[in-house]
Order: sequence, then structure tokens, then C-alpha cells
Amino acid sequence: MLTRIDHVGIACRDLAAAIARYTSTFGLTVTSIEVNEPQGVREAMLEVSGSPAGTSYVQLLEPLRPDTPVGRFLARRGEGVHHVGYGVADITTALAAIGATGVRLIDERPRHGSMGASIAFLHPADLGGVLTELVQARPTAG
Ligand code: CO
Repeated sequence: MLTRIDHVGIACRDLAAAIARYTSTFGLTVTSIEVNEPQGVREAMLEVSGSPAGTSYVQLLEPLRPDTPVGRFLARRGEGVHHVGYGVADITTALAAIGATGVRLIDERPRHGSMGASIAFLHPADLGGVLTELVQARPTAG
């Protein structure tokens, strides 16, 4: 069902400083920077590697305001790993199959994620404390 680790989401207070850390330490390059207003974040995707299963990213997340999920996370836990995103081929099918196992779905239906992907979050309380995201990448053009 899961095709790869799509990205690791990391909460940060200062997106520019976090980007500088990842580019200078690991030589990563920024693929996209976007604001996701419904999720209350400004985020950057930095490409880690390409493989036949697809590209993996580090996703750096800076809250737009304190009263957002990532803003509350930073207040409670400080900077660090926020969630893990796994690639799936068909997010609707994956959500139905995972929901049938009893894991609670934060998103019953997919919503818009980074770079045109369809995403959905699964409840961390049912997954050992790990906020988990499913990612169906935007179909490639052509
Ligand atoms: Co994510």
C-alpha cells in the first residue's frame, strides 16, 4: 500500500533559517516554497533523493500564526519532527483500507497538499504517537 517515504515534516520557527540549515549541512536544494493557508503554514520542500518509486523530501513547516496546528505543536514540544508522509498510489483506496483497520482518519477525504499532491492525515493516537500523512503525488504531465 505504501510506496515510499514521501517526506518527513519538520516544524520550525524560522523557515529561512531552517532552509539554510538543510542546504548548508546536507547540500539539499529547495524544490518549492508555498503558503498553505487552510493548514496555517509556510512550507518548503527540499529534495533528498530520486528513486524509481519517486522523490523523497524534507518538508520544513513554519506556522503562519500561533493558533495553528504547527504553531501549537511548537509551543508544546518545540522544534522537531512533526509528521511522516508516505506515498500511496491511490489515496482514496488507501484511506478506506486503513480506516477499515480501525485507525481514525483526521481527513476522511483527501485535501490539497504540497506541489499539487492529494494528502490526508491519520490520527497519531492510533499510530504510536506518530502523526502520519498519506500522499498521492500530482500526476505527471503528459
Ligand atoms: Co506533510
